[in-house]
Amino acid sequence: MTDNNRVYIFDTTLRDGEQVPGCQLNTVEKIQVAKALEELGVDVIEAGFPISSPGDFQSVVEISKAVTWPTICALTRAVEKDIDVAAEALKYAKRGRIHTGIGTSDYHIQYKFNSNREEILERAVRAVKYAKKHVEDVEFYAEDAGRTDNEYLARVVEAVIKAGATVVNIPDTTGYCLPEEFGAKIQYLFDHVDGIENAIISTHCHNDLGMATANTLEGIRHGARQCEVTLNGIGERAGNTSLEEVVMILKSHKELGLDTHINTRRLYPCSRMVSNLMNMPVQPNKAIVGKNAFAHSSGIHQDGVLKNVQTYEIIDPQDVGIDHNSIVLTARSGHAALKHRLEILGVKVDGERLDRIYQEFLRLADKKKEIHDDDILLLSGAERTSDRHIKVDWLQATSGIGMKPVASICLDIAGEKFEAAATGNGPVDASINALRQIIKRQVTINEFTIQGVSKGADDNCKVHMQVEADGRIYYGFGASTDIVTASVDAYIDCINKI
Ligand code: KIV
Ligand code: ZN
Repeated sequence: MTDNNRVYIFDTTLRDGEQVPGCQLNTVEKIQVAKALEELGVDVIEAGFPISSPGDFQSVVEISKAVTWPTICALTRAVEKDIDVAAEALKYAKRGRIHTGIGTSDYHIQYKFNSNREEILERAVRAVKYAKKHVEDVEFYAEDAGRTDNEYLARVVEAVIKAGATVVNIPDTTGYCLPEEFGAKIQYLFDHVDGIENAIISTHCHNDLGMATANTLEGIRHGARQCEVTLNGIGERAGNTSLEEVVMILKSHKELGLDTHINTRRLYPCSRMVSNLMNMPVQPNKAIVGKNAFAHSSGIHQDGVLKNVQTYEIIDPQDVGIDHNSIVLTARSGHAALKHRLEILGVKVDGERLDRIYQEFLRLADKKKEIHDDDILLLSGAERTSDRHIKVDWLQATSGIGMKPVASICLDIAGEKFEAAATGNGPVDASINALRQIIKRQVTINEFTIQGVSKGADDNCKVHMQVEADGRIYYGFGASTDIVTASVDAYIDCINKI
């Protein structure tokens, strides 16, 4: 059925990854990510869950049109209406796959479905047969397979393969399994399922106990040949298995004799693009793509690396697309240099949009001598929000020792100007208090983080904010060389979403 050394990469950044509160992308942004995934060389893009919303449906349609090589996959429950809608959304896909399934653990069977094992098995088979009427390529997921009794799981897997499933996904939905246990589960299936050679077995691990990558690897070592992953490991709760980790493990450990078709030099740019579009910072010590992943700071390590880089480095940073020699842009850099750098970072822009980003770039270069990659990504992100309904026209905030911080602000709301002034316990608090006088809504700030982008007192800073209004949660993002401006920007981002 497959070249047995090949591990297929199924990317679910746009489905499981995008389910994370605050990470939602619009269709244009999803197409941008899908194209970057195609360039990265993933085999399957899970583009969405079409029945869940008109936006998800449209994204699957548009990604199907925009992407040529990877298979486009749409998620469904084991419900005929879901499957019909997924098939409709996939109608432009050059290669379309329906991913249908149902919970198979006793927790799901009893509490979610109030059902029994036999009935669930029948529903699984019926869903696969129904999906087969629409597309040839049907993947079945046994949700919570990690906590499903192996004997029952084997019966389900055998039945869905017989019904025509081309891929069977064994998710560790709750991230509970130990690596050895997950590997043994996959091995059990290979030992007990008749006809298993007629389908590809897939892993789909969550990271609740920090074992997603280890579990995925154990699954692969026991015969799984597809793994479901996300860039930067984003996903529900503690996230999914991270794409870059699995790919670089297989590439680094040649003795495993396994390979993917990923162009690893695109890993870093793709990671940055997703982080930037989803406003989801990558932790600095994140394996492969974190800011510190290749930074040697202790004297002993630096000395070793200078003598021979292999003393402390197992991966050449250039292999994952990190170029330490990359040109740092300055106020004298032109359009072409900025466009080139954006392209390396995975952002393709032209014409008027490039001009607008370039003007922002010049303004920033006036304030900050050197412009680094993260600054540039912030600029391209800021440009996305330039069409907001509510904008700051001007803002002035003063603070210091022995004085009460005070702020004045003018907002532009759909072309009309509103001014207010307030005091606070600092310039940020004063500015938000002034804002609240204009926007009279009950908005509670639950989370507020400020982070520097590169280095230096002239650095850009990023502000991530989570607010609550009318019982709903909203996420906002702001960036500026000025902490107060960035904070107000993040708040305004939330307000626009409300
Ligand atoms: O974690 C999970 O079980 C899933 C399925 C819907 C594939 O995301
Ligand atoms: Zn999942």
